[in-house]
Formats: sequence, C-alpha cells, structure tokens
Amino acid sequence: MAATRRAQIVPSILSADLAKIGEHLDAVKRAGVTWVSVDVMDGHFVPNLSFGPDFVKLCKKRGFFVDAHLMVSNPETVYPWFTDAKADIVSVHVEACEAPAKTLEGIRKRGAKCGLAIKPKTPIEKFLPFIGQIDLALVMTVEPGFGGQKFMADMLPKIERLSAERDSRKLDYWIQVDGGIDSGTIDKAFKAGADSLVAGSAVFSAPDPEAAARELIKKIS
Ligand code: DX5
Repeated sequence: MAATRRAQIVPSILSADLAKIGEHLDAVKRAGVTWVSVDVMDGHFVPNLSFGPDFVKLCKKRGFFVDAHLMVSNPETVYPWFTDAKADIVSVHVEACEAPAKTLEGIRKRGAKCGLAIKPKTPIEKFLPFIGQIDLALVMTVEPGFGGQKFMADMLPKIERLSAERDSRKLDYWIQVDGGIDSGTIDKAFKAGADSLVAGSAVFSAPDPEAAARELIKKIS
C-alpha cells in the first residue's frame, strides 16, 4: 500500500504571515498543495506558544487535509479538542505520552488518523514498539519549537529505519519529516523514505509562496 503513496509537500502554517493567512493558504492551494500542518505548542513541552483548534477549522474550511502536530505536555487532555475540530491526523509526541498505545487508540476512536512524533534526541528504539498502530510517523529534523532552523541530517537514519520497517512488516503509515526542509535538503529526506515533507519557512517566508511550493513539489514528483 505504501508503495502507491504519492509524496506530499505539507506547508506548516507556523511560518505563515498571520496577517495574510488566507492569501498564503490560497497561494499554496494554487500550487497544488492539498495538505497543511498545524503546529500546536503549549509553552511547556516546547518554549513557544502557537495555535488552537480554531486554526484547524480555518484550514478545513478552505478544503485542506490537515494534520495537527501536538507539541504539548498533556496530549491525552488536548487531542480531543483537535479531533473535535475535525483534524484528519492528530500527531502526539512519544516523549509526552504516559501510555502512547492508549493515546493513539483514543485518537482513532474519535475518528481521526493517529500520528506519533519523535524528537531528535529520542532513540528510534523508543518509537518502534508503536509503529504497528500508527497512520503517520513524524521524524523531527529540528528541535521542536520554532520554524526556520537548520535541517539535522543525522536524523536521516531514523527515516531510513522507519521506511525499512514499513516495508518488511508490510505496514502502512506516512513517514513525515519536519524541520529545515527546503530545496537544498528535501532530496536527502525524500530519498531516505519520507513521503510527507513539512515545509514552513521555505514556503511561507519565500517572497512568492506559490512558486516556492511548486518548486518543492517538482523535487518530489
Ligand atoms: C518546529 C516546527 C517547524 C515547522 C517547520 O517545532 O514543527 O519544524 O513545522 O518549520 P521550518 O520548515 O521553517 O523548519
């Protein structure tokens, strides 16, 4: 199943100019983007504060497929707000879950697909026990919290491992990469096996977000 999956560029609205969020979303839609990512930060799990479920509703209203990336210390409390907002995928951090398997099951029970995210310093061994029950594996290639950081190439083996496990165990999950993805780093992540490539500043901090999104889409087509 995964073999038939077409890789996607997933703009992250964290880096969008909120004064013109509508224009920015329309621009990436014109480029062919169908999936956007909403970074949710609680000022505790990461040293930043960002969006609530209303931003998911805003993106859904514009017809996007939406993943909510919960960078929060209490994902068990927070994820229902995002399934209620009709996020298509809700991703939680393996580092923040008391019982990852239970949380992932809870997300699915509320009608969304479930994602599990891993920070750079967390060994992949802590993540692998849960890959049989996820719809998306999110490999952070920056320390979570801020857009515009440098891509951490030493995270590539995690992507390669998840790709190998998906094939050998005939599993079916997206491999999402998030952090520092731009025209100079996207090839490495894509070749390693990522098929959902989150790009924030490379798209929305560009003078022409539509053209920037088109360029990244071309690189993985
Ligand atoms: C970090 C955020 C960022 C964002 C992407 O917590 O998750 O990675 O989505 O930002 P860029 O593409 O600018 O690194």
